[in-house]
Parts: sequence; C-alpha cells; structure tokens
Amino acid sequence: MAWGEGVSSRRAVRQTLCSPCPGVLVTVLPPPRRRALLVAPLAAAAACAPSAKSPDASDGRPLARVQHGIATPQPARVLLAAYDLAPTRPTTAAVRRALSAWWSRPAPDVTLTVAAGPGLYRGLGLTAPSRLKDLPRFPRDRLDADRGGGDVLVQLCGQDAAACDRAATRLTSRAAGVLSPRWRQTGFLPAHATGQTPRNLFGFKDGTENPAAGELTRWVWDGDGSTYLVYRRIHMTVDAFTALPVPHQEQVLGRHRASGAPLGAQREHDPVDLYAKSPRGRYDIPADAHVRLAHSRLDGGARILRRGYSYDDGAGDQGLLFLAYMRDPALFVRVQERLATGDAMNAFVEHRASAVGYVLAAPPPGGSLGDQLR
Ligand code: HEM
Repeated sequence: MAWGEGVSSRRAVRQTLCSPCPGVLVTVLPPPRRRALLVAPLAAAAACAPSAKSPDASDGRPLARVQHGIATPQPARVLLAAYDLAPTRPTTAAVRRALSAWWSRPAPDVTLTVAAGPGLYRGLGLTAPSRLKDLPRFPRDRLDADRGGGDVLVQLCGQDAAACDRAATRLTSRAAGVLSPRWRQTGFLPAHATGQTPRNLFGFKDGTENPAAGELTRWVWDGDGSTYLVYRRIHMTVDAFTALPVPHQEQVLGRHRASGAPLGAQREHDPVDLYAKSPRGRYDIPADAHVRLAHSRLDGGARILRRGYSYDDGAGDQGLLFLAYMRDPALFVRVQERLATGDAMNAFVEHRASAVGYVLAAPPPGGSLGDQLR
C-alpha cells in the first residue's frame, strides 16, 4: 500500500509526491463520491506541471499544496534551525527573496520545512495569521531564550546528519544579511523497523496515537495547505525514570512499555479507554497518566500531529524534541496546560525551550515560497 492511501476516515485524502516540484506534497481535498477519487491523482499530476493552470479538485475546491517534512515519513535525523531578522532591518521583499532562494535549490535527500514566527510579522510590519501568537508561559517552564523562539524556523529531516548540517549551512549563507542564525538543534530517532513506532529515551513507543493520513485535512492542514508548528525542547531525566519498576513507568505513561498498548488493552493500536476499570474499581489508566491528560477526548476530539525526535547534547542533557503540527496552536496550549499541572511525568521532564511558527503553504506551480509571505 502506498503511503497516504487506503486509510479510511470520514474524509479521505490523497497525498501525492510531486516529482517536478521539489519539496511539495499535493494534498487532494476529499471529493464527495468514490468515482471522483479515481480522478484525483490525475488532477494532482496536472498541478505539478510548471505551465499548468492550478486546477481544482473534482469537488470544486482548490488543491492544497503543503510542505514536505510534516506528513512525510520521518527519517532518522532532524536539524532545527532558527533565524531572526538581521539587525539591518531587511525589507519584506528581501525576506521573500531569501525564502525563495532556499526553496529554489533544495538539498537532495533532505526535506525542508519553513515556518514564520510571530516576530517575523512584527518585525516586517505585516499582519500575522490570526492563530499565530506567542505561546504563553506554562507552569514549570524553565525556558532558555537562546535555544527557543525565532523569526523563521526551519526543520530539515534526512537520513544523514551531515547532509542536514550541510543543508542548514547553505540556508544560512543564502540568507546572509537578511536572516541571522539564532539557534540550531539536532535530533535523532533510534533504529526501528519500517512501519514500527519508534521509541523515545524512556523506552516507550512514541507516536502511536497520531492522526492517520486520511485525517490530516481535518486536523493539520488549513484549506490552503498551511499549518502551525509547535516546538518544545524537553529535558528528560532518563536514569531516574528508567530506574523505576516497569509497572510504575507504565502507570506514569498509561501504556505498556513492551507492546505500547494502552493499560488494560492488549495491542498497540487498541483504543485508549479512559473509562475502563479493574474489578476492584480503579481506572486502568490513572488520573494523572500522560495519555489520559493528553487524550483528544478532552479536547472534543481535536488532534495534533506529533513528529518528535530525541536529542542527546551530552553532559546529562538529553530528551525529546517535541515537534507537532496542527491547525491551531491553541490546541497545544490547552493540552500543555493540563500536562503542566497534572502529568505524573512532570517529575521526570522539564521544558527548556519553545518556539511556534506558521508553516507557509507550498507555492503553486511557477510560484516561490517567498510569495507565500503576505
Ligand atoms: C518528554 C516529554 C514527552 C514524552 C516522553 C511523551 C511520551 C508520550 C508517549 C510514550 C505517548 C504514548 C504513545 C503515543 O500515543 O504516542 C504519548 C502520547 C501523547 N502525547 Fe506525549 N510525551 C511528551 C510530551 C508531550 C507534550 C508536551 C504533549 C503536548 C502538549 C504531548 C502530547 C501527547 C498526545 C496528544 C498523546 C496521545 C494521547 C492519546 O490520545 O492517547 N506529549 N506521549
């Protein structure tokens, strides 16, 4: 089964890699009838032709063009880089040119995902997208400003750390005088079999309960293919957590360590049942378990797409690079407010950096990323 196909949901979506347009994933919005689905890939192919007029999906809505590195499979390495407007106060036109230069010559084997932070709109005097706001400070935050924030955020994903590094260095030199580097952070995924959920540094499968490809139009992409990115650099006290007896670790997370199944269930993808109780009347998933407090049921079913990586910066500093994409960062704020005040995992984690950005829709054929900054 090709990636992005065959996932049933209320609103099926097809996503097609667009080979003539590097870095672009074409999302064909769901047509109402099954017959129309068969037409959609042809429409997507036409959308890639540089000279083609951007066609509509067969239900009359425009095709959304989304950046790579969000719904595409996660390779082993990530490099995050943040930039600020240069002190020379560049114009909007100069920033647009820099973004377009990034986009026009993509690095092979590395996906580039670009997001605009709230400061970019403030600095250029542009009106920010309505849902792009600085994240509030949460209880227990210990944020290092030098490792977070940024007017432009970049996520580079690839199999090879050196290739990601070279790509970031090229971006920096192409934007010289317009965007100044602010911070960089690298991360990795432990080796895992294709199709299996990778494990985080606590040894638990991480990413199980993510929306399926067919649900992304509902929870991740806005109508034009834009979305929002939330980043948190979360320190994990790995030794203290992994020294706990495994049943205790499982109570903290709310899932079994070996299988990834929710407590009280057997298989990894069994549904999380927040109401299930033991014969003695105790909830299978404790009141302060991570998956209970993070569960979408507490947000009326609204979902975020997590794309986390681990980091290890030595000297006891290791943890999770929490990267999540969603239609509205207010959802992250609601989840994190619950976690920050009630999560049993808080004894073992500390949020040390934070950033938020508006992920521009990918440009239409013949267009350039800079044109998407309005
Ligand atoms: C170091 C910090 C964190 C660790 C180690 C961690 C780990 C996990 C693990 C092991 C799961 C269960 C497997 C899965 O569904 O992926 C999970 C679920 C989840 N986590 Fe986290 N997480 C962390 C931080 C966060 C943060 C900051 C958020 C958002 C504010 C978050 C949101 C979620 C959500 C939405 C789920 C799915 C819950 C469900 O519906 O079952 N996590 N996390």
